Amino acid sequence: MAEQAATPATAREWHLAARPQGWPVPTDFALVEAPVRTPGPGEVLVRNVYLSVDPYMRGRMSDRKSYAEPYELDKPMLGGAVGRVVASRAEGFAEGDYVLHFFGWREYATFDPRTAVKVDPDAAPLSTYLGVLGMPGLTAYAGLTRVAGIKAGDVVFVSGAAGAVGGIVGQLARLKGASRVIGSAGSDEKVELLVEEYGFDAAFNYKNGPVADQLRAAAPDGIDVYFDNVGGEHLEAAIDSINLHGRIVVCGMISQYNATEPTPAPRNLAQIIAKRFRMEGLLVGDHYDLQPKFVEEVSAWVRSGELKYRETVSEGIDGTVDAFLGLLSGVNTGKMVVRLDG
Ligand SMILES: NC(=O)c1ccc[n+]([C@@H]2O[C@H](COP(=O)([O-])OP(=O)(O)OC[C@H]3O[C@@H](n4cnc5c(N)ncnc54)[C@H](OP(=O)(O)O)[C@@H]3O)[C@@H](O)[C@H]2O)c1
Repeated sequence: MAEQAATPATAREWHLAARPQGWPVPTDFALVEAPVRTPGPGEVLVRNVYLSVDPYMRGRMSDRKSYAEPYELDKPMLGGAVGRVVASRAEGFAEGDYVLHFFGWREYATFDPRTAVKVDPDAAPLSTYLGVLGMPGLTAYAGLTRVAGIKAGDVVFVSGAAGAVGGIVGQLARLKGASRVIGSAGSDEKVELLVEEYGFDAAFNYKNGPVADQLRAAAPDGIDVYFDNVGGEHLEAAIDSINLHGRIVVCGMISQYNATEPTPAPRNLAQIIAKRFRMEGLLVGDHYDLQPKFVEEVSAWVRSGELKYRETVSEGIDGTVDAFLGLLSGVNTGKMVVRLDG
């Protein structure tokens, strides 16, 4: 009752005000005060605690149909979030429950919780349901185990290696018996984290020199698996270094998300013939059947300390756009989340 009494009549939510051309700018977004709707039959009212900002959201800001619908202009944006139920008229959901859902980018949300899942704040920190134990973690797990079919002895290279997905990919590869794990990231501090804390065998800062040269030096005998989070120069370099029957998992191409011109294809793709490597796109949504196995394996490794994770936490709803823009430019180490007051 106390919580209900504290529920305000209005709360803030982020709208997309204009479709970004190239890099998004703050004026593409608007923080709007909107009524907090009382739940109808079958609905819950949730006060968000953590909002997720993710690279795929950049795609949804454009008016191009992709695997996720474009955001509508002047409407609250969608995204992963974890929040606390403050009022419920939905069976199976009670005040005080915590839920993972898709009505992010706002302080309060009223919705039918059939697409939400309850999460346990005592089992793991709430933010991890958006990161290491959530969508990015499953992406890493599915990509490495199912799409790449990792085998003991593989040499694995991952780009974006200090990010939410990449950091887990590299550590999972090690735990699954890779003979050598190599990562690339955009700062010397991130490179140090990969080797010193995450246990990568080698890592390099892609801003320090050509990726192909740095990768060749780190993997003199070539690579068997490349987990691509970046595209462009990284993908070309990986094709140069990939071994016979290697596997390339194309998870993301963040180097191209703000491009205003078509980006060059990998110029060396013809190597696919001689090397007979396999290149396959990965969409996490195809792999939710792996969720129970993923949570069981990965949460055990997180608990034992064999798998480490980082988060970059931005405070307050006002900073959500800055957090998103920071994610695109590499401000984050590990999962970028926004923590709301209360
Ligand atoms: N296919 C799927 O189902 C799926 C699901 C989740 C994520 N993804 C993709 O996976 C990738 C990683 O996502 P995430 O959530 O884990 O994000 P993240 O890696 O935590 O954050 C994005 C990182 O990208 C790096 N970056 C930005 N511009 C770059 C550039 N031009 N070249 C190289 N690196 C650049 C930055 O790190 P540096 O400091 O190292 O540059 C930044 O920290 C993204 O491409 C995303 O779209 C795909």
